Amino acid sequence: MSSEAERKTVCVTGGNGYVASALIKMLLEKGYAINTTVRDPSNPEKVAGFKAMEKLGPLKVFRANLEDEGSFDEAVAGCHYAFLVAAPVYDKSHKSDDLELEIVQGGVQGTLNVMRSCARAGTVKRVIFTSSTAAVSSRRPLEGDGHVLDESCWSDIEYLRSMEKLSPTQAYSISKVLSEREATKFAEENGLSLVTLCPVVTVGKSPAVRVDTSVPACLSLITGDEQMLNILKGIERASGWSMPIVHIDDLCAAEIFVAEKESASGRYICGSLNTTVTEIAGFLANKYPQYNVRCDCLDESHPEKPTISLSSAKLVGEGFEFKYKTLDEMYDDLVAYGRELGLVPN
Ligand SMILES: NC(=O)c1ccc[n+]([C@@H]2O[C@H](COP(=O)([O-])OP(=O)(O)OC[C@H]3O[C@@H](n4cnc5c(N)ncnc54)[C@H](OP(=O)(O)O)[C@@H]3O)[C@@H](O)[C@H]2O)c1
Repeated sequence: MSSEAERKTVCVTGGNGYVASALIKMLLEKGYAINTTVRDPSNPEKVAGFKAMEKLGPLKVFRANLEDEGSFDEAVAGCHYAFLVAAPVYDKSHKSDDLELEIVQGGVQGTLNVMRSCARAGTVKRVIFTSSTAAVSSRRPLEGDGHVLDESCWSDIEYLRSMEKLSPTQAYSISKVLSEREATKFAEENGLSLVTLCPVVTVGKSPAVRVDTSVPACLSLITGDEQMLNILKGIERASGWSMPIVHIDDLCAAEIFVAEKESASGRYICGSLNTTVTEIAGFLANKYPQYNVRCDCLDESHPEKPTISLSSAKLVGEGFEFKYKTLDEMYDDLVAYGRELGLVPN
């Protein structure tokens, strides 16, 4: 057990999700006790990933919904840290057309709802909010290349709202910008310590038994899943023609790093490689000749090299070290996970 953990109880919201389940595993391995939340714990698929993790340490599962005021009170009570990971994200199974209501308003109100539970608990020493670089880099395309974006950059809501119809990626960016701003305001007004992590596109193996977000998108060049390929290309376009990625183990380690480091404050971009979909496709075609890698779906509008890069200099400058820095290191694990989940043929 790490000295920081000393069997402190911490809350991780949305424990069945791709990122949250990996974070829970890492926290348990470090000696923390976990309270986590699931929207529907009676659904066996939503709790299946916890079975193996319960052996690692104390793990309690609570029912909570971001839409219900007070829903997180019980899960957060007595906790030392609260990791806000659950959020309405647009995925393959999405049914509703009202992105403004579900993604934008749902994200903001859900974040505030959990923040209010944290304030009521009176024990939470720090809230770690998982935002996204979707709140950093979605903007009018920049001229030329070599642009570096850091934590001072915000996605341009006015520009995103000026589009004829709100797309899922735009709604997600707006939701993350507004959630970050509202969470910061609430934390200031209520004397809560808040640190925000802005991860780039996250890859690698997690205990989650079902994945709908970055994993199927990043594997779509191999699986050929058209809907996911469009999401992948949409992310690259929305990120200013770049495809920054991070390994999930590095993301979870960064979540814990900014929780435990007392002097941490504000936003932290978390990404270790700035690449492009074209570069990834070339790498995959070379490394996995047995698969029909979809290099054919990329025309000349997709650049070879990223136009902008997202900088994690703040995180690294404060002492964080990324373990996974190359496509080789990151995709090895991702492809193996895809095979386990039945997304990628053996
Ligand atoms: N994956 C990435 O590349 C990436 C990159 C940057 C940031 N992030 C952020 O990381 C977080 C997790 O993303 P993920 O990729 O792990 O997605 P995920 O697997 O879809 O997890 C999302 C979680 O949020 C829960 N959730 C959604 N709406 C909810 C509601 N109304 N009430 C309670 N829980 C709700 C989901 O529960 P159900 O299973 O019941 O729907 C699920 O547990 C999100 O905040 C996302 O913005 C992810």
